[in-house]
Amino acid sequence: MEARISPAKWLTGSVRIPGDKSISHRYAILGAIAEGRTLIRNYSSGADCQSTLGAVRDLGIEAEKTGNDVAIHGRGLEGLRQPAEMLDAGNSGSTIRMLSGVLAAQPFSSRIGGDESLSRRPMDRIMRPLSEMGAVIRAREGRFPPLEIEGRPLRPIEYHLPVASAQVKTCVLLAGLFADGVTKVIEPVRTRDHTEIALKHFGAGIASEKGEIALQGRPRLEGRELAAPGDISSAAFFLAAAMMAPESRLVIENVGLNPTRAEIIDFLMGMGARVKILRIAQEAGELAGDLLVEGSSARGGVIEGALTAALIDEIPVLAVLGAASEEGLVVRDAGELRVKETDRIATVAENLRRMGVAVEERPDGLQVAGRQRFRAARLNSFGDHRIAMAFAVAALAADGECVIENAEAASVSYPEFFDTLRQLTR
Ligand code: S3P
Repeated sequence: MEARISPAKWLTGSVRIPGDKSISHRYAILGAIAEGRTLIRNYSSGADCQSTLGAVRDLGIEAEKTGNDVAIHGRGLEGLRQPAEMLDAGNSGSTIRMLSGVLAAQPFSSRIGGDESLSRRPMDRIMRPLSEMGAVIRAREGRFPPLEIEGRPLRPIEYHLPVASAQVKTCVLLAGLFADGVTKVIEPVRTRDHTEIALKHFGAGIASEKGEIALQGRPRLEGRELAAPGDISSAAFFLAAAMMAPESRLVIENVGLNPTRAEIIDFLMGMGARVKILRIAQEAGELAGDLLVEGSSARGGVIEGALTAALIDEIPVLAVLGAASEEGLVVRDAGELRVKETDRIATVAENLRRMGVAVEERPDGLQVAGRQRFRAARLNSFGDHRIAMAFAVAALAADGECVIENAEAASVSYPEFFDTLRQLTR
C-alpha cells in the first residue's frame, strides 16, 4: 500500500493510542502460563501482538478476542502443549525472543520462525543464556531464525547482559520461572522493566535493585484482570508531529508513562517541547496518563549511552525532528538500530536523503544538521513499521505531497496510524 501525505499546518483534537506493544506481549505470555483466566483490556491491535496470541493458541491455550479485550485461559507452568507446526512470530522480535524462554523449559521440542525481516535478526543473544540454563537450541547459520528448541529441565543462572536488551532480559527471566532456585539478570544499563512489574503482579517473587534482578523459580502465577496503557512509542510520532507544526494543540489520552519508557517526554522537553502531563494514574504497577502537546521549536540534542537504550524505538522519528530543529541531532552508541526490523540507521538516512536532508551515517549512529527543509519525495518504509510512521511525520513538514511505499508496515504496531493521522491533521 502507498500512503499519500500532504503537508499539514497543525495537529489538533485528542487521540487514544492503541495498547502498548511491549506490555501486551508480556501479559499474553504470562496469562498463558498463569493459572486461571487473565483478562487483558486494551490489548495492542498491532500485528506483532497478534503473532504472540497466535503462538499462545498454538501451544494449546484458549485465547478469545472481543474488540481490544483478550481473555486467556491460562493452564499454569505445566499447561502448554506441543505445537503441531512451526510457531509463527511474524515480524516480531519480541515474540520469538520472549517465547523462546518459555519453550526452552518445556517437556517437548518446538520450532519458531517468522518473516523475512525476522529471519535476518540475531538470536544468539538468547541462545547463549538459554543454553547455559540447559536448553538445546539450533538456529540457521547458528544464529538466525527459525529456531529449533529442545526443551529441558532448566537450571538457574546469573546472567550479565552483554547488550542492553529488554527482550533478552525477559527471555532469561521467563526461562527462570521454570528453573528451581534464583535466576539473576544483571543489566549494563537500565532497560524497560515491564516484565519485572508484570511478574510481580502475576504473583512471582522478584526483586530488582541497582540493575540486578533476582527471580525465584517455580512460582504459582495467578490469572489477572489488567489493562495495557496506550503505547508511548506510538504516541512519539504524534508528539514529534505536533511539535513540528507551530499551531498544534493535541491531547494524547491514556498513554503509558513507565519511567523506563517515558524518557522521550523528558528528552523532548529538554529540546524545548511544550508538553504537559494532564493526569497520571497507576494500573497493575504501570503508570499512565494524558498528555497535552503544543507546537514548539526544537533546539536539538545528543543521544548517547544509557539515553540511546531508553530511546531506542523513538530514534527514527527523533532523527526527523532533529533535521527540523535548530541545532540538529547526534545519535551515538546505537549499533542496535542496525539489527531492528530494518537497519534503521540506513533506512532513516536513505529516506532523509530522498527528502533532500543531509545526514551523516556512522557505524553506530547518525548526525543530522538542524534547520533543514523537507522536500516532497517518494519514500519507503522498507517493511519497517517505525520507518513508515517516522516518515509520515517528515511528510507533514514537506513542501508538497509525499508518497510512502509499503506504508502497510505500520500495522505491525499501529494499524490505525494513517487514519488517525488524517483525522488529526489540518
Ligand atoms: C522491546 C525491547 C526493545 C525494543 C522493542 C521491544 C521489548 O528491543 O526495541 O521494540 O518489548 O522488550 P531490544 O530488547 O532488542 O532492545
